[in-house]
Amino acid sequence: MKALILVGGKGTRLYPLTYTLPKPLVPIVNRPFIGHMMRRLSNYGITEVVMSMCYLPDMLKHYIESEDNFGMKVDYVIEDCPLGTGGAIKNAASHFNETFMVFNGDVLTDLDLGKMIDYHTRRGSVATISLAYVDDPTAYGVIDTDDNGRILRFTEKPAPDAVTSHHINAGTYIFEPEILDYIPPETEYSLERKVYPDLLAHKRPMYGYFEEAYWLDIGNPEKYFQAHRDIAAGYVSIDGLSFNEGDDVVIGENAVISPTARITGPAYIGDGVRIMDGVDLGPNVFIGRNSIVDSHSSLKESILWENVVIGEGAVLNRAIIGTSSRIRPAVYLDPGAVIGCNERV
Ligand code: GDD
Ligand code: MG
Repeated sequence: MKALILVGGKGTRLYPLTYTLPKPLVPIVNRPFIGHMMRRLSNYGITEVVMSMCYLPDMLKHYIESEDNFGMKVDYVIEDCPLGTGGAIKNAASHFNETFMVFNGDVLTDLDLGKMIDYHTRRGSVATISLAYVDDPTAYGVIDTDDNGRILRFTEKPAPDAVTSHHINAGTYIFEPEILDYIPPETEYSLERKVYPDLLAHKRPMYGYFEEAYWLDIGNPEKYFQAHRDIAAGYVSIDGLSFNEGDDVVIGENAVISPTARITGPAYIGDGVRIMDGVDLGPNVFIGRNSIVDSHSSLKESILWENVVIGEGAVLNRAIIGTSSRIRPAVYLDPGAVIGCNERV
């Protein structure tokens, strides 16, 4: 089966990290998120992927090519200006003349795609949407189904008093090509606000697929942190990482750690990282390759990308620091601070 990945958004909720980097390249435990996703699709036997891009497409393309397309055939469809989730699918219509899958490009999940495809086929569905259960559905597309899973209503980002269900659109779809007839060409158009309600108004069979899978949209700093914590806790596993559970400390090649540093797991210390004397590090600290954490600094619940330098005695709690940024000695960062790439603080 062919798949379309929607990766055209600007990732504004992750600013300033995404000023210079498209959201799919934001690293999850030191590797671009899209890499985890592409490996997963390939493991499920998907052989052809269309990337629907808009924001910083060359960087993304360059990364995918550098990974030999993850062993799949990859095509790129690039929008001059954002066409929205529906318009983006229509824009790639020439690639799809049989059942196809569509993925939001910012979802970390271990959903069983094989089971979802079976479900779609057995129900004779035109559009099958994976469902997740969340406590607060207001940031998502809310979905009501009947007992058989047939979708009765789709409401994108409802006001709190309009929430009718805790089941939400989890951003993995299986479509019949018929859906393309519901989207005008070359027009900005929303899948969630226009196409789904329209299919329902025409009484076309749409089904929600629910499974007890891990699910998280990583698109804001809080969720981005949560993804790391959950991976370290073993709630979800990602390719090529050996976190088991609990308080593992994963140390990369050629990392140098002072014997006087105190490290509390879970923690990830990337290749070539240097941790100096008296550093107090962890839990839930993830450090990208070749970063330096200078003496007596303290890092908790924080994510450093590559080539970051943390000055002597600096204090970080729930911070995210972009590639090649430097935190000067003795700086205290407010909890939750997000520093972009190539900054000096
Ligand atoms: N090509 C293209 N063009 N892609 C786009 C565009 C566009 O104009 N706009 C958004 N995308 C991509 C984003 O890059 C992202 O991968 C995906 O479409 C979803 O966009 P988000 O901006 O992340 O949407 P959201 O998280 O607010 O809401 C969506 O995802 C939720 C689940 O995570 C909706 O689909 C909700 O209904 C859903 O619950
Ligand atoms: Mg999102």
